[in-house]
Amino acid sequence: MMKMSRRNLLRGCSAAAMTLAVDPSLAVAQTVLPDAFIEQLIARMSLEEKAGQLSIYSDPLRFEGAQINPKTAEQSAKQLHASILKGELTGLFNGVGASSARDLQKLAVEQSPHKIPLIFAGDIIHGMKTIFPIPVGEAASFNPTLAERTARAAAMEASAKGLHWTFAPMVDVARDERWGRVSEGAGEDPYLGAQMARARVKGFQGRNLRDEDTVLACPKHFAAYGGVEGGRDYNTVDIPDTTLRATFLPPFEAAFRQGALTTMSSFNDIAGVPATGNAYLLTDILRGEWGFKGLVVSDYTSEEEMILHGYAADGPDAVVKALSAGCDISMQSGLYYKHIPDLVRQGRLPLRVVDEAVRRVLRVKQAIGLFDNPYRSMDPKREASDIRRPETVALAREAARKSIVLLKNEQDLLPLKKSASVALIGPAIHDKADLPGPWAVFPDVERHVTFAEGFRSALGAQGRLFTARGADYEARLPGGVEQALAAAQSAEVIVLVVGESSEMSGEAQSRTDIGVPAPQLELAEALAKLAKPMVVLLRHGRALALTGAVRDAPAIMATWFLGSETGNAVADLVFGDFAPEARLPVSFPQVSGQEPYFYDHRNTGRPQLTDDKAYKSRYREVTNEALYPFGHGLSYSKVRYSATAVSEAGPSPALRAKGSVRVSAQVENLGARPCVEVAQLYIRQLTASVTQPVRQLKGFQRLSLAPGETRRVEFTIDAEMLAFPHPDHRTYAEPSAILAVIGPSAASGEPVKLAF
Ligand code: GLC
Repeated sequence: MMKMSRRNLLRGCSAAAMTLAVDPSLAVAQTVLPDAFIEQLIARMSLEEKAGQLSIYSDPLRFEGAQINPKTAEQSAKQLHASILKGELTGLFNGVGASSARDLQKLAVEQSPHKIPLIFAGDIIHGMKTIFPIPVGEAASFNPTLAERTARAAAMEASAKGLHWTFAPMVDVARDERWGRVSEGAGEDPYLGAQMARARVKGFQGRNLRDEDTVLACPKHFAAYGGVEGGRDYNTVDIPDTTLRATFLPPFEAAFRQGALTTMSSFNDIAGVPATGNAYLLTDILRGEWGFKGLVVSDYTSEEEMILHGYAADGPDAVVKALSAGCDISMQSGLYYKHIPDLVRQGRLPLRVVDEAVRRVLRVKQAIGLFDNPYRSMDPKREASDIRRPETVALAREAARKSIVLLKNEQDLLPLKKSASVALIGPAIHDKADLPGPWAVFPDVERHVTFAEGFRSALGAQGRLFTARGADYEARLPGGVEQALAAAQSAEVIVLVVGESSEMSGEAQSRTDIGVPAPQLELAEALAKLAKPMVVLLRHGRALALTGAVRDAPAIMATWFLGSETGNAVADLVFGDFAPEARLPVSFPQVSGQEPYFYDHRNTGRPQLTDDKAYKSRYREVTNEALYPFGHGLSYSKVRYSATAVSEAGPSPALRAKGSVRVSAQVENLGARPCVEVAQLYIRQLTASVTQPVRQLKGFQRLSLAPGETRRVEFTIDAEMLAFPHPDHRTYAEPSAILAVIGPSAASGEPVKLAF
């Protein structure tokens, strides 16, 4: 075969690579042409090179972040350099720096046998140096455009630091608030999750994946990780296929349709088959049904963990099962590198399986331009200019503002006047390091704005601000309560910041009690006895079960972990320079014991619908309602919804015949301030061959309302919206009476009835 020059081959083949580029309508059903350049490479590579091309490790040479993974038998620096020179390493993750990336890339593309470029990845979950709200907080914005903007900004900074690929967005629908990784996703709802997944992929990958300021997205963890039993991380997931498809897959499908070219297999099993060795998931659904042409990387040693799952007998068996199922790259375990050559030589692993995985990896590297631009995203000048740009910092403040949910505001206690004397109290008020929350791996801590700094800045030199920590996150502070009481005595109003430290949520941080830790509750009770106005600002990575003086405070805001601009954003809202506009992406239960708790639950045969409690599906201690429901959030105004109206009522054939029907409502701003209202559409399928949830979010619209303004909001309901998965793996609607309501939360509004 005539050997084409590399450059000519690339020119001819870049078109093929471009078919991997983003075409949202086709992105999942990507057609990828045979690529002579890549086939020639594969034909020339040794088994050891192929095994190395399917192996990625945490970078021990250039890792500057917090300890975020369990220790393993790390590849030493010497070993890694040797692997790079031999062309037996596909890339590294969580090592950063444009210049040092260039040095490593130079070894690969100038000295290795086939000059295959390295790919550099990182956990850029909610920002690189400038940190944005944790994803569940950003989901509270119900603002996909905002999520796209922050992902775009994060990609700018990550690519300026020499990264090509982020292990984000995390798109796991979380069904139990005890699970610490609620913090990383978009909450409990599949529809909101899909909107945010699509937006973030778009932001990370930009207009063209060959642009140097883009990064590959990696919607993770595929799949159903949010369904872990008991909310205990890494635990079993035992769900029927219809639940897998109705609840957990929609955000992934949305992400792949938006053009995501990589995904990460999850630690959990699904009904006894670990995701990393699950051919039904990684091949039948991902590639067979969705036409995904990208690559799958295992989560950190998850292929090796199939031995502990009891699914693989040993390392070689784990490699055969993971690769054959469709897991292309092994992360961190080293098993692929260690066993693939022998497994192929022994005939236990077909070479075509290995070659197909290598092909996928090389095509993704080609799709981001690495073959013709191996030093892509390794420009030291950009590293200096594109980190913490003023517009990025301003965006962090805007995103933080738009993520804060006002849960309660009795007697319009908020916003406070800047002339008021304020006692700012709580363990987090001066804490720079803890502001970003979980999975902020490379933050610029010194530049973070604390609660106290933000309040001081808002109040100015004249403002009277008294501060005291009062307690630690999970322990009393000697004299802390006394200091807090002294500060409070000097002030007209108390602002108490309570909740979790960043290590209380995130990976491997499941809690049986999702309340505010006891030392902080004691502080709250002591302050409440002063009978002064008290605003509670919650700081948390999940929904909390509120109790006592925290629960009874007249004004409560859910502030999540807001990132670099925390103090400024909170002060912007507390003192009224901006109004809250976010809504809850997770239900706040009455008590922890209600978990797993999600609004889109089924009705059961004995729902408790009235005060008749005999033999109903209920608890003795609390009602089944949430304390604060999914979708709930107040502004500094009052909003009224009219009843939901159906544009064309009529018999079922009307909808089926017409193909759709419209529902609408009038939304009125009764207050004296402008507000942003998030009008939400919920539907319910009253009868179905697979029983359906009592409510499902199927749409939302953000309305900016001037004082006194009324807007009509309208949604179209059609068969696609009403379709749901069936046991035969098909998704379609069934004739049924449908309830539809437009309202301000999952617990609101009188539905109208229509028929499909
Ligand atoms: C972790 C996480 C995953 C992360 C990976 C690399 O265990 O599960 O989300 O991307 O390892 O740090």
